[in-house]
Amino acid sequence: MTENCKHNDCITILTMARKSRLILTCILCFLFTLVLVKLQKPSVKKKDEVFLRPPILPVKEDHFTHVSLAAKNLPLSGKLFCLVISYHKNHQSRAMGPATTWMPKCDHGEIFTNNNSLPETVPYRDVYRHQNNTYYSLYTKMMFTFHYIYTYVSPSFDWYLKADDDTYVIVENLLDFIKDLNPNKPYYIGFRLKSNGGYNSGGAGYILSRPALKLLADQHKNPSKGCVFSKWEDLGVGKCLRSLGVAPMRTMDKEGLSLFYMYSFDNAFNGKVWDYNPDYWLYEIPKIKYGFESFSSKLISIHHTTLHEMRLIHTFLYRVKVH
Ligand SMILES: *[C@@H]1O[C@H](CO)[C@@H](O)[C@H](O)[C@H]1NC(C)=O
Ligand SMILES: *[C@@H]1O[C@H](CO)[C@@H](O)[C@H](O)[C@H]1NC(C)=O
Repeated sequence: MTENCKHNDCITILTMARKSRLILTCILCFLFTLVLVKLQKPSVKKKDEVFLRPPILPVKEDHFTHVSLAAKNLPLSGKLFCLVISYHKNHQSRAMGPATTWMPKCDHGEIFTNNNSLPETVPYRDVYRHQNNTYYSLYTKMMFTFHYIYTYVSPSFDWYLKADDDTYVIVENLLDFIKDLNPNKPYYIGFRLKSNGGYNSGGAGYILSRPALKLLADQHKNPSKGCVFSKWEDLGVGKCLRSLGVAPMRTMDKEGLSLFYMYSFDNAFNGKVWDYNPDYWLYEIPKIKYGFESFSSKLISIHHTTLHEMRLIHTFLYRVKVH
């Protein structure tokens, strides 16, 4: 106590100090209880979803990433961005297929992979060094990729196509299909399947408009309840988009033939389509025809094509003319 404080004043000051300490303690207690309550409340209801939701690593543009010279020379805006997913074991046997046939027809077409063993003349980047490259981690890899592309490559394309390294895409037919669609609205277009409210097959390739890509990219940091890990990449992405209000759109020609094709040429041609079950399809069943009638004349994509088949298709589509 200071000497020049009169007795009564001192008591008042002391009581006030005690009061404020009490108030402070109360506030701290309240905050502590709040934290405890928050900690006990699970953020996701189902236990297994908490368990399954994988960590998604943060990325920086040049963090462990090699961008090939050819990729660096590609434009950063335009109509169509094409993303082909691969990994080192498929570089020679598969990735060279899209890289030397249909991918250069996109405004910006790149292989996304996990190692730098592709030639610098192939547009690619190895952004997957720190991702698990197993089949069942594809969902995590794709959600990472959507965020990566939107944030670190470019959010300035109208459309973003995702394909596998064994998908052949007839880019002109794809552009023809989307020509009347507004790329400022969310679109999710591919070979659509019925289960779980509808989703597009991953292997047949699917295309997202810019706002649809943004919705997925935004799930990177704080995924919403509908965007949880799935062992099946395409199903997981479809569920996520549906929960955000985006459903796959109808993709058939006038005859009812599918424009995107998730089966191999052999399976389609020879009638070995394994799941011809009405429950399997969304809203309507595409016509399944065999032999030379299997495919729509406006076909956009076909899955399970080998490097050899891609070269064959490409040669006959773009080189050989009937005289
Ligand atoms: C990349 O993959 C190739 C082909 O499998 C392999 O020979 C090479 O060692 C790998 N390189 C790196 C840097 O991981
Ligand atoms: C890869 O898998 C391991 C083991 O399942 C897991 O601990 C790790 O977080 C995964 N990495 C990524 C980037 O998902």
